[in-house]
Amino acid sequence: MTRQISCINGPNLNLLGQREPEIYGRLTLGDIETLLNEEAAELDMSVKMLQSNSEGQIVDWLQDARTNASGVILNAAAYTHTSVAIHDALKALDVPVIEVHLSNPAARDDFRQTNFVSPVVTGSIAGLGAAGYVLALKALATLIP
Ligand code: DQA
Repeated sequence: MTRQISCINGPNLNLLGQREPEIYGRLTLGDIETLLNEEAAELDMSVKMLQSNSEGQIVDWLQDARTNASGVILNAAAYTHTSVAIHDALKALDVPVIEVHLSNPAARDDFRQTNFVSPVVTGSIAGLGAAGYVLALKALATLIP
């Protein structure tokens, strides 16, 4: 059966390609969706690409994944560093979750050193640009029967 993956993207990631390309790269979120769909076809998986600038919407999508997805790729963007609500929603989720960051927050500003996501996900990939999303999908393929 095709494994359904929710790829949830947080604030300002709709501006990928235009926003600080020296940090986040020149690919758009649509380009990343194309890369994921190509890989998903190889792995008998299907990816639903989602993006919102609103914390509550991200919580709703994580809750939805409890019943409608076999796994989650999450780039919570700036909410990674602030959101107890996303932390709690992740704790309520039983499917594997791979956290992705295009940049490496550990090598950046002090305020990015707080992370509410990492302690409650299956694994994390950071600093590898768009390739991190594809690697996350490959990881989920090994984790989901
Ligand atoms: C990010 C890193 C976050 O610190 C930042 O707020 C983002 C993007 C990344 O993909 O590198 O918006 O999640």
